[in-house]
Amino acid sequence: MNFSKSIIDIIKERVSCRTYSGQPLEKDIRENVIKLLENHDLKSPFSEFAGRVRFKLVSVPDFDPNESKKLGTYGLIKGVQDFVVGAVEKSQFDREHYGYLMETIILTLTDIGLGTCWLGGFFNRSLFASKIETSSDEIVPAITPIGYPAQRSTTEKIIRAFAKANKRLSWEQLFFEGDLSASLTTIKAGKYSKLLEMVQLGPSAGNKQPWRIIKTIGKKKFHFYSINPKDGRFLKYSKFRPLDIGIAVCHFDLAAKELGIKGNWLFESPNITGTEDLLYKITWNENE
Ligand SMILES: Cc1cc2nc3c(=O)[nH]c(=O)nc-3n(C[C@H](O)[C@H](O)[C@H](O)COP(=O)(O)O)c2cc1C
Repeated sequence: MNFSKSIIDIIKERVSCRTYSGQPLEKDIRENVIKLLENHDLKSPFSEFAGRVRFKLVSVPDFDPNESKKLGTYGLIKGVQDFVVGAVEKSQFDREHYGYLMETIILTLTDIGLGTCWLGGFFNRSLFASKIETSSDEIVPAITPIGYPAQRSTTEKIIRAFAKANKRLSWEQLFFEGDLSASLTTIKAGKYSKLLEMVQLGPSAGNKQPWRIIKTIGKKKFHFYSINPKDGRFLKYSKFRPLDIGIAVCHFDLAAKELGIKGNWLFESPNITGTEDLLYKITWNENE
C-alpha cells in the first residue's frame, strides 16, 4: 500500500467519524477508492490461514428508498453517502485477516482526507451482505461509512464521551516483559516503543482494547494475545476481538516497516505462565 505521508502520522490522525457533510465523493476520489478496493494483492500476516477477502464501495443514493431507511445505523452515523463493505470466506483467522486489511484501507482513506468509522455492530448486516452478494461461506464482519467529515453532532459527542474514545489503557495494562507480572516500560522497549504506541492508538470495538503483548526477555520477540473474558457483560464483544487484534497487528507491522525494523510473523505456542485466561494469537520476531 502506498501512503503519501508517514504511516505513524496517519495512525495518529485517524479518528472515528460519525458525522459527514452529505457531499458525494468527488469523481477522481471515488475512482481512486474503487481502484484501492479492487486491489486483490492485499496480504496480512494471517493470509495463510484465512480465506479470500473482497471489498466494495456501496452508495446510499443507489439504494431503493425503502432500503435507505433500513441502514441499521440508528441515527448514529449522519450525512453518509457511501460505505466500504467487505466479505471474507469463513476460515481460521478470517476476522483477524479482515481486521488487518480493512484497517489498511481505513488508513489509506484517512491519508486522502476521508472520514471513516469501523461499524461491527450497528448496521443492517443482511442488507449490506446483499449489496456485496455474499455466498453462504462468506461473512461481513464489519463495514465503514466513508465521506467528508463535518462538525461532530451532539449524538457523536455523546457516543465519544460514553466510549471514552480519546482515552487508551496505560502501557502497564497492555505491554509486558517475560510474563504478565512485569510491565514493559517505554525505556525497556527502546526502539520498539513506537510500534507499541501505534498499537495503543488503535481503534477497537467499544474501545475495549483487548490487545496484550508480551516481549520475551533478552529476545527480539513479541507475543500478541487477546483478552478472553467469560462473563456475560463482555461476551457481546467476543466476535469483534479478532478484528481488534488484526488492527493491532496492522499498526505494529506498518510502523515496523516504515521504521525499517524487519521481522517475521510466526505462530508459536509460547506457554507463558499466567496467560491461561488470554487467547494467544501471533508472534513477531525481529530478523537477526
Ligand atoms: C471492530 C470494531 C467495531 C466497531 N463497531 C462500532 C459500531 O458498531 N458503532 C460505532 O459507533 N463505533 C464502532 N466502533 C468504533 C469504536 O467505538 C472506536 O474505534 C473507539 O471508541 C475509539 O475511538 P476512535 O476510533 O475515535 O479512536 C468499532 C470499532 C472497531 C475496531
